[in-house]
Amino acid sequence: MSETAIDTNKLDAFMGKAVGDLGAALDAALILIGDKLGLFKALALAPTTPTDLAKRTETHERYVREWLSALAAGGYCNYDPVTQRFSLSPEQAFALATEGSPAFIPGAFQVVTALVKDEEKITTLFRTGKGLGWHEHHHDLFHGTERFFRPGYSANLVSSWIPALDGVEAKLRSGARVADVGCGHGASTILMAQSFPKSRFFGFDYHEPSIRWAKQAADQAGVADRVTFAVSKAKDYPGHDYDLVAFFDCLHDMGDPVGASGHVLQSLRKDGTWLLVEPYANDRLEDNLNPVGRVFYAASTLVCTPASLSQEVGLGLGAQAGEARLRDVVTKGGFRSFRRATQTPFNLVLEARP
Ligand SMILES: C[S@@+](CC[C@H](N)C(=O)[O-])C[C@H]1O[C@@H](n2cnc3c(N)ncnc32)[C@H](O)[C@@H]1O
Repeated sequence: MSETAIDTNKLDAFMGKAVGDLGAALDAALILIGDKLGLFKALALAPTTPTDLAKRTETHERYVREWLSALAAGGYCNYDPVTQRFSLSPEQAFALATEGSPAFIPGAFQVVTALVKDEEKITTLFRTGKGLGWHEHHHDLFHGTERFFRPGYSANLVSSWIPALDGVEAKLRSGARVADVGCGHGASTILMAQSFPKSRFFGFDYHEPSIRWAKQAADQAGVADRVTFAVSKAKDYPGHDYDLVAFFDCLHDMGDPVGASGHVLQSLRKDGTWLLVEPYANDRLEDNLNPVGRVFYAASTLVCTPASLSQEVGLGLGAQAGEARLRDVVTKGGFRSFRRATQTPFNLVLEARP
């Protein structure tokens, strides 16, 4: 392309955007460092100097000063030139330093850094067309995913998603059998078990280290008496009398979601319900070209599509499948009823009935 074809105003605007994204990309590692070392939690307590923050976190002042300066430039903390102290606003502290808050975000950046570490493996996939299993990623992906998703489940699952399903809450209160398939570290399973003590919960995932982690988490949460975790795939987990089967953000990671749908159908009671939570997406690509779609298409390229292509059938549904394609998968599995129960900015909450 000749130089005259370049509109310098448009180039400047694009480079401005790219510099902003460059800083954001580098911030991912800084946020994870602050999370791992307790820097955000200590900074949330009071405005502080780098020296004090380093003392309180047993870290080195020179690194902490540079870290604070970078985050202040990026809007992840604040700097007061009069007092020369750094601080977090209540909102920044809620999102960066409060592990149980519904806005807690460092887990998402843990996912980002894990995927950057896997970039060489993923680049190769573009040439070979092969898949990459969930289990083949850096272990921070498993912990980051749990910490990224758990705040959303805490904020929505019991208070809004389950009540949006037809008759399910009452069954869970009186005592139901529930399978949580592709449960990962079991955050959703444990939350449900805490809220519905008369019900029995069975968490399944093919990834053995995740199941081991989930078992420990259930012990620590005091719900091991009503939760069982086991290694199993979505197409062959045991049981055929579940009142509720739940899939949280995992159907599109599977190679054969239609086969999984068929297995869910035969594992449910006749009056049972399949709760399917998938990333929020519209049906058309052009309607997903927004910040949420950007995050999910990127995650889909780096994790979800390779995961699906690594398994049998290898449908590669993608994390932005949208309701119409999900309906197709679910009904091909044999379900007769399918509807959107509710949604959040990040999730489609779908209900299928036999
Ligand atoms: C994005 S993670 C979601 C984990 C969990 N549901 C959550 O919301 O935190 C996707 C999970 O699906 C699991 N998975 C992928 N394919 C599977 C299959 N065929 N059968 C069972 N689990 C599968 C992975 O091991 C992983 O734990």
